[in-house]
Amino acid sequence: MEKILITGGKPLYGSVEIDGMKNAALPIVFATLLVRGKCLIKNLPCVSDISRSLELIEDLGASVKRLDKHSVEIDSAGVRVRSVPSDLSRKMRASYYLIGAELGRFGRALVGYPGGCDFGVRPIDQHIKGFEKLGAKVNVEGGYIDAFAPNGLIGSNIFFDIVTVGGTINVMLAAVLADGITVIENAAREPHIVDLANFLNTCGADIKGAGTDTIKIKGVSELHGCCYTIIPDMIEAGTYMTAAAAAGGNVEICNIIPKHMESVTAKLEEMGVTVIENDDSIRIIRDPDTKIKSCNVKTLPYPGFPTDMQPQLGALMCQADGVSMINEGVWDNRFKYVDELKRMGAQIEVTGKTAVIKGNPDRMTSASVRAVDLRGGAAMVVAALAVNGTTDIDDIHLIERGYDNLVGKLTALGAQIRKITVVPPDQAFNVAN
Ligand code: EPZ
Repeated sequence: MEKILITGGKPLYGSVEIDGMKNAALPIVFATLLVRGKCLIKNLPCVSDISRSLELIEDLGASVKRLDKHSVEIDSAGVRVRSVPSDLSRKMRASYYLIGAELGRFGRALVGYPGGCDFGVRPIDQHIKGFEKLGAKVNVEGGYIDAFAPNGLIGSNIFFDIVTVGGTINVMLAAVLADGITVIENAAREPHIVDLANFLNTCGADIKGAGTDTIKIKGVSELHGCCYTIIPDMIEAGTYMTAAAAAGGNVEICNIIPKHMESVTAKLEEMGVTVIENDDSIRIIRDPDTKIKSCNVKTLPYPGFPTDMQPQLGALMCQADGVSMINEGVWDNRFKYVDELKRMGAQIEVTGKTAVIKGNPDRMTSASVRAVDLRGGAAMVVAALAVNGTTDIDDIHLIERGYDNLVGKLTALGAQIRKITVVPPDQAFNVAN
C-alpha cells in the first residue's frame, strides 16, 4: 500500500511541464479500433487509466507497441469482435467507448457496464438513445450492454437531452463509418471532443462543428492510419495552478493551451491570485503573506468552470478569507472529498449539490486523509501543500489514474513530498513470523 506524505506550508517556485490530456487520449486510443492501418499516437499521458485502455484494446487483438514513455503505435488489423467482461470494463469509465468503436467497426458490441469514480448515479441512457437512433438494437442485461446493428449503422439526427461528454464521443465513434450523415445537437464542446474529431479527420473522417453544440458527421467507408499528438491536459494544468495558488510562490505551468484555462484563470484572479498568460504557458504568482479572497463558483460543461477542477478549487477556498460557495452543476454527488478536508479543520456544509466553505487558513492543519476519487485525491494534495505539518494521503492509486509523476513534478517545484510503501499490519505480522 502506497501513501503520499506532504510537509506543506512552503511556497512553490519553478516550472512544471503538463502531459497530454487523459480524457482526450482515452477516446483516441479506443478510436484506433476503427482505423485500417497503423496509428502513431504521441503525447500520451503515462497514467494508469491509459495503460488500462491499451491493455483492453490489446486484449481485443490490437497490436500495441510502446515506442517511448509518451508514444505508442497501434495497429487494429487483428481486432475481432468479442465480449469485454465486466471485471475489465469496471476498471474505468471510458471502457464504454468500446461500445461506439466496436459498433462502428463491426456492427456489434458486447461490453460489461463501465466503472469509474463514484459521483452518484451515472446513467448512459443518452449513449443508448444515440446508438438506437443510428439503427442499433441495445439491451442492457446481466451487467452487459449488448448493441447490435443487423443492417449496419445509418446516419441520423440526435438531440441529447443533457450535455454529455461521453455520449457525444460515443456517438461520434459509432457514426464516423456509418452510412450517411449524423447530426448531434446539444453536443458537448469540451476540448477533448475537438481533439477526437481532429484525430478522426486526420484519419480521413469528415466531421465538422466539433467545439460547437452541433456536430455534423458524414460517414466515410474507411479510416487510414496517421500520426497524431494529443492536446495538453487542462485539468492537470488547473491542478498545478490551484496548488501554486494555495501554497503561494511563483510557478510557470508549461506546455498548455491558455484558452482552455480561461474559466480557471478567471476564478483564481477573482481570488486575488496573479495569473500571467503567455503563448503556451501560464504563470501563477501569489505572495504567501497575502490573503486569498473567497468566491462563488458553479460547475458547468465547457466553457464553464470544469467539474473536474471543483474539488481542487474547494481545497483552495479553505485557504480563503471568508465564505465561498460551490454549486455542482454536472454531477449529483461530487462532495465526498469534503469529509477528508474536514479532517484537516475545514468548515464546510454540504446541502445537495451546494457546498458552503468558511475559509480560515489558521484552522487548517495537517492530518491523515485519503483520496476518495481521482480529483478528490488531487484536492488533498492542494490542501496539504498549503498547511504546516505533514499530511499523509492514502489510496493514491486513485490519483495515479490521472496524474503522472506528481511527486517528481512537485518536488521539482520545491515541495516536500514523498511516496512511501506501508506494509499492512496483517502482512507485517506474517513477515515477523
Ligand atoms: C467525462 O465523464 C469525464 N470522464 C469526467 O471526468 C468529467 O467529470 C465529465 O465528463 C464531465 O466533464 C472522461 O472523460 C473519461 P458526462 P462522462 O456524460 O462522459 C449525465 C475525471 O475526473 N448523463 O458528460 O461520464 C451524468 O450523470 C472524470 O477525469 C446522463 O444523465 O460525463 C452527468 O450528470 C471524472 N445520461 C452529466 O450527464 C447519459 O447518458 C454529464 O456526464 C450520460 C450522462
